[in-house]
Amino acid sequence: MSKLAVYPGSFDPITLGHLDIIERSLEVFEHLQVVVVHNPGKEPFFTPAQRVQMVTESLAERNLLSRVTVSSLDSGLLTTYAKKLGATVMIKGFRTGVDIEYELPMARVNRDLTGIETVFLPSDPGNTHISSSLVKQVAALDGEISKYVTASVIRAFKTKG
Ligand code: PNS
Repeated sequence: MSKLAVYPGSFDPITLGHLDIIERSLEVFEHLQVVVVHNPGKEPFFTPAQRVQMVTESLAERNLLSRVTVSSLDSGLLTTYAKKLGATVMIKGFRTGVDIEYELPMARVNRDLTGIETVFLPSDPGNTHISSSLVKQVAALDGEISKYVTASVIRAFKTKG
């Protein structure tokens, strides 16, 4: 049984939906490693370092840093990295079937490549409309994002201008 699970994502930025998945994963796994990964299908707004900082500060706001570590992966396969960390499981949250359609082939390839299993956690029904993309759109138009992200993320948007 794996004590460590990896939770990868773009986290551009981390949302309250991601934090809910992290908190619920900690009911199943002793330790979680959040890995900020580049998604080739997306042009990020925040740099990897800024995303790691937002994740770390958001976890600190929730007092989760004793059981969650944060890192970023610049190159190479995520599963190879996860295996090096000693994880055998990867966590993916999903909001709707659309997320599953996208994630399922990756989960199968990841298992083929390194034997790493993917555990899918359904998002809380109250979070199905929250996405990093929408948060960025609302923030860019000077809208209110405090329902969707932590105070640290709000500060990061203000600093970025
Ligand atoms: O938050 P996102 O953008 O939905 O996260 C997607 C991400 C980065 C987790 C996904 O693209 C991924 O798992 N990338 C890992 C890169 C990799 O190893 N690809 C080959 C395996 S199919």
